Amino acid sequence: MHTKIESLKHQMLVDLKLAKSETEVKDVEVRYLGRSGVFNDILKGLKDLPDEQKRTIGKLANETKEELEADIVKRNAEIANEMLGSLADSEWMDVTVPGAVPTAGHRHPITHFMDDIEAIFAKMGFAVADGPEVELEHYNFNMLNIPEDHPARDMQDTFYLKDLKKHVLRTQTSPVQIRTMEKQDPPIRIVTMGKTFRKDSDATHSPMFHQLEGLMVGKGVSMANLKAVMAHAFQQIFEDPTIKTRFRVSFFPFVEPGMEVDCTCPICRGNGKLPDGVPCRLCKQCGWLEVAGAGMVHPQVLKNVGYDPEKVSGFAFGFGLDRMVMIKHHINHLRLFYENDLRFIQQF
Ligand code: DAH
Repeated sequence: MHTKIESLKHQMLVDLKLAKSETEVKDVEVRYLGRSGVFNDILKGLKDLPDEQKRTIGKLANETKEELEADIVKRNAEIANEMLGSLADSEWMDVTVPGAVPTAGHRHPITHFMDDIEAIFAKMGFAVADGPEVELEHYNFNMLNIPEDHPARDMQDTFYLKDLKKHVLRTQTSPVQIRTMEKQDPPIRIVTMGKTFRKDSDATHSPMFHQLEGLMVGKGVSMANLKAVMAHAFQQIFEDPTIKTRFRVSFFPFVEPGMEVDCTCPICRGNGKLPDGVPCRLCKQCGWLEVAGAGMVHPQVLKNVGYDPEKVSGFAFGFGLDRMVMIKHHINHLRLFYENDLRFIQQF
């Protein structure tokens, strides 16, 4: 009997050592010390023994049981400790390591540029106007002094809408001038920016592109005002106060006189070549860049919206936004803006 208790005790200590979690320890405890465990079987068998043995074996069995209960508590503490130890190994962190910066999106370079333009003109007192991209021929052409048989209609390869008679995808932002003047009396100072459409597609033309249009109408508005506004705008856009502006005579049906506006080439700064002597390709070495169309609003256009050309005058200008962004960021292909390749977009 004696040796049986000893060997049971030994066996249980081995099992206890093998138990790796509190549940496994519990299993061992139930198996050996539980109500129907092996130790209880021994205690139950005591009654068949002679008195002398009953006492010594009983005592030994009880003592061993208590001892083993203490071993159980000890083993549980060991397991808890081991778990904490491995947690510290696997879950530790260095709170001094700089955090991972989440990738955030940002505005498209063209949108960004539009916001800058808006701010530049807002400082000169210009409000922002808006107009539809699907436009009536009436606004896109007729009201701008381009009647149906006018050759100027051929200057712009127009997308006509099949099912919406008399509608086009606007070829220019100039119709917003008309819509604004119809709604409002002078004085007027607005800019408008947005998508325009023409049947065109190459490195510098895309069937969809963006224009910026400006209009100022009031008493005594002159070409000097136009030149001042243009000059200031280009200096702000290219962030260079030395940029100059010049006008060349040109023709647009809705202005008289009409002109093309050039500004100092922002790449070679008017020198025709770069600091290292390389000829400037952007301005083809002439030092000037053609950037906008402009002019004094044609008296017929003023009459079309019910203004009296004897009392008020105005200037208008329009330029390609995409081209300005290309010049500003030295980009050589227009379609890069519209392909949404993140490797390109992320550079801005
Ligand atoms: N709408 C013209 C174009 O798309 C640009 C333009 C020229 C706008 C002269 C104007 C202007 O307002 O006065 O080619």
